[in-house]
Amino acid sequence: MIHWLKKWLVGYHRETEKTGTDRERIHTLQKGPLPRHVAIIMDGNGRWAKSRGMPRVAGHRAGMKTVRHITRAADDLGIEALTLYSFSTENWKRPKEEVNYLMGLPGEFLRTDLDELVARNIRVRMLGEEDQLPSHTRDAIMKFKEATRDNTGMILSFALNYGSRAEMIRAMHGIIDDVISGKLEKEAVDEEYFGRALYTADLPEPDLMIRTSGEVRISNFMLWQLAYSELWFTDVLWPDFTREMFFEAIDDFQRRSRRYGAV
Ligand code: IPE
Ligand code: IPE
Ligand code: MG
Repeated sequence: MIHWLKKWLVGYHRETEKTGTDRERIHTLQKGPLPRHVAIIMDGNGRWAKSRGMPRVAGHRAGMKTVRHITRAADDLGIEALTLYSFSTENWKRPKEEVNYLMGLPGEFLRTDLDELVARNIRVRMLGEEDQLPSHTRDAIMKFKEATRDNTGMILSFALNYGSRAEMIRAMHGIIDDVISGKLEKEAVDEEYFGRALYTADLPEPDLMIRTSGEVRISNFMLWQLAYSELWFTDVLWPDFTREMFFEAIDDFQRRSRRYGAV
């Protein structure tokens, strides 16, 4: 898309979202320590739809808008990496129609949001097993990656067909192969090495993990990476989660004392 249109797009969103108080809020938060990496378990789309007498997929559609708003909020704040848990390895157990709908969302997001993400200099990537995804979903992911490959701003990762246990087993298989073939000494495999064998190899560990919808569990999300993350839970359902609530989580994060086992 032509340059001025891109600029207008970003400028327009700035106008609609960055009111005076919003600007102040951002400014104040930026004075405190910001999490480098925020990871979110976006939960509650189905219940949001059900409470309105709508099909579950309507909740996923509404949830996509929240993805847009929270991506903008994280980017405006200057967060380095935002990871969104979008589809777990266990979510294949859902009805076929719902799975199909979810698999169509990356393509839709590409159509509606790619230009703004590019204009914001955001790099999009995916964490999870790509091979098992339908080809149109893989195609959308590939286009996202290609179009944003050279961007140097926030890294936006979608955890898609992601399961932490599967991720660790995959990493372990790779390591075992290298040890058996003599490429790697068993003793060289330490925590850092293992971390680099995960999908998140080039990301900092999440400083803050947010889960919406009132469920207080991890649901097979980044079990290794969350070892020392600050956890923040809210009863609000993902489609109702707002920019201001995101800022509230960051504000709360800034009041925590992270000790990593020390005093
Ligand atoms: C989160 O919302 C989105 C995905 C897991 C894909 P849910 O679909 O899990 O919504 P609830 O938890 O059933 O309300
Ligand atoms: C976790 O939510 C997965 C995603 C948000 C993609 P779920 O709704 O699948 O988790 P459970 O079943 O409540 O643990
Ligand atoms: Mg759920």
